[in-house]
Amino acid sequence: MVIDSRSFRKALGCFATGVTVIAANDGQGKPVGVTISSFASLSLEPPLVLFCLGLGASYVETFRKASHFAVNVLRDDQKELSIRFASRMADKWAEVEHSPGAASGAPVISHCLAVLECQLEKEMVEGDHVILIGRVLGLDYDPGGQPLLYFRGNYAEMA
Ligand SMILES: Cc1cc2nc3c(=O)[nH]c(=O)nc-3n(C[C@H](O)[C@H](O)[C@H](O)COP(=O)(O)O)c2cc1C
Repeated sequence: MVIDSRSFRKALGCFATGVTVIAANDGQGKPVGVTISSFASLSLEPPLVLFCLGLGASYVETFRKASHFAVNVLRDDQKELSIRFASRMADKWAEVEHSPGAASGAPVISHCLAVLECQLEKEMVEGDHVILIGRVLGLDYDPGGQPLLYFRGNYAEMA
């Protein structure tokens, strides 16, 4: 069967996900961040997570070189952050409250549903993406908050 890319995207869009902004510091200590839905848990012991980043993405080399990254899991009222970090806005971090994570130094965005601070453990290039695997060094979460969801190309909140 020949897989046409439009149908492939439509089928993948049926898989509902949460939304994260994954962030790291570049070589000059400046924060970079990108909206990512391909985040997944990988292992409990040791605690590993992964995400997939397009090889054509602006910050791909920054993430591949960074020692650490922070996974900022967005809550239902943070759609604007998802749009912002998926865009080519000149200063994505303007007016975004953030601070260096205590465990990793990677940029942690305030008010998120959860944050996982990671050390970059391994990368694997597959197809047109690189899989970045991180070891979780520290975490925080809001036990009662609600997530921002992404389904069929649209944002959704839990009913
Ligand atoms: C909800 C959502 C989820 C996304 N998930 C991913 C992802 O998992 N991997 C990825 O490489 N890009 C993902 N993107 C696209 C990136 O956020 C970004 O737009 C893309 O890397 C292009 O960035 P650039 O224009 O700076 O190169 C997602 C975008 C949105 C809106």
